[in-house]
Amino acid sequence: MSHSIGIVILAAGKGTRMKTDIPKALAICAGYSLLDYVVEASLSFAKHSSLKAQIGIVVGHRKEMLEKWWQSHSKKDHIKLAHQKEQNGTADALKACFNDLPHFWDFDYTLVACADTPLITENEFNELFKVLQKNAQLVGVAATFETSDPTGYGRIVNGSNGFRIIEEKDTNEDQKKIKEVNSAFYILKTSHVKAVLGQIDNKNKSGEFYLTDLFQDNFQVKAVKFPSETPFLGINTLEQLANVDRIIRQKKVKKLMLDGVRFLNPDSVYLDSKVEIGNGTIIYPGCTIIGNTKIAESVLIESNCFIKDSLIEENVKIFAGSYLEESKVQKNASVGPMARLRPGTDLGQETKVGNFVEIKKSVLARGAKVSHLSYIGDAEIGENSNIGCGFITCNYDGVNKHKTKIGSNTFVGSDCQAVAPIEIGNDAFVAAGSTITKSIPNGGFAIARTQQVTKEGKAKNFLKPKKA
Ligand code: UD1
Ligand code: MG
Repeated sequence: MSHSIGIVILAAGKGTRMKTDIPKALAICAGYSLLDYVVEASLSFAKHSSLKAQIGIVVGHRKEMLEKWWQSHSKKDHIKLAHQKEQNGTADALKACFNDLPHFWDFDYTLVACADTPLITENEFNELFKVLQKNAQLVGVAATFETSDPTGYGRIVNGSNGFRIIEEKDTNEDQKKIKEVNSAFYILKTSHVKAVLGQIDNKNKSGEFYLTDLFQDNFQVKAVKFPSETPFLGINTLEQLANVDRIIRQKKVKKLMLDGVRFLNPDSVYLDSKVEIGNGTIIYPGCTIIGNTKIAESVLIESNCFIKDSLIEENVKIFAGSYLEESKVQKNASVGPMARLRPGTDLGQETKVGNFVEIKKSVLARGAKVSHLSYIGDAEIGENSNIGCGFITCNYDGVNKHKTKIGSNTFVGSDCQAVAPIEIGNDAFVAAGSTITKSIPNGGFAIARTQQVTKEGKAKNFLKPKKA
């Protein structure tokens, strides 16, 4: 018979020590919220164990923000929310879970995790669970670790049978020196939780109901000491957040290097934890690559590029100082230096977008080129068309945005404007310096500029004498 487990993630706390307004569980670390990491570890543990599992998240402070997070979560169906009305401590938070989700009493085991520990993985859950399963007499296990600086953590005080956890505020001078601390990850038999949770009081220096009181000297409980503190690093301050953020990013870069991604200066690159990069790709110093970005194999990204939520296909070259957001760049295309791709840009295969070109919500078909100093907005440009230097789509009339459509194999000379809405056909030719206000049919030639007047010998009337 397979066993069942309720995974309760405590996320109702204010995060007072963070001194920011958002709930701590939603603080962003390497591109994702602290809660995202703990939920992901829980989901992986549930998926790979033989246990029937469900996740319950206890929300409280600014719960509407956590509800919004939950609404947009792809695994929402596996997650339930419970509400802790007042943040009276971690034991009170667990009570709130059982109050709102009474079917959690039916699970054989209860795993408790804190939302402020983003380096946790399914491995720690597995290790902890193994100990509980192997020792039939045990009613609960807590993950602990040794640290050179135990400040802020609950200290582990071993008894003759079980052990106790003394919170920092309640320690005496000797207990303060204890280096083995509580990670706040526990797995318990739900029957034990049922027997003890209601009896926990708040007679301590904080006046809070401490979940750590589920562990006592005379209980069949075990502190399972893990060899490394890293997976359990808890975040209570912005300094701790920055530290863990750095650890996640460094781990990411290291893994990508093992997978064959070349970073010319790995320490200078800022990567979110879920960015994907293919092998053979070379990344120059100073790049920021964040969000839901996927970069394929053999891409070149020169210095100081910013890439967010974008898809970059094989053999693309992105030259120095380019800025890409919600854009797609297809195989063998090149971008920059100093180009800007705004949301909704789709550059086809072998396209070229050169320096000082801004593109917004536009599609360039295969082989199209916009090489210098242009603004392309709300436009479609057909295959192999060439847009000369300084072209502008006049897409905005002050109220609405309008579309520009340019066919394939068309040539637009330098310094032209197309006043949208407008269509320029296939195989058309627009003479340099034209302001195009009327559509041009396939094969059409258009010129829209004033005629030149040349007067022989008259330049001297305009040239100023040079200073000696
Ligand atoms: C907690 C442990 C401490 C451990 C440390 C590890 C307790 C009493 N102490 O302390 O032994 O060493 O974690 O990081 O559990 N929360 C609620 N409702 C509340 C209070 C807190 O949901 O009323 C949530 C918080 O959002 C957070 C988690 O519980 O995710 C832990 O709370 P926090 O205030 O960070 O506890 P620590 O002081 O870190
Ligand atoms: Mg904490």
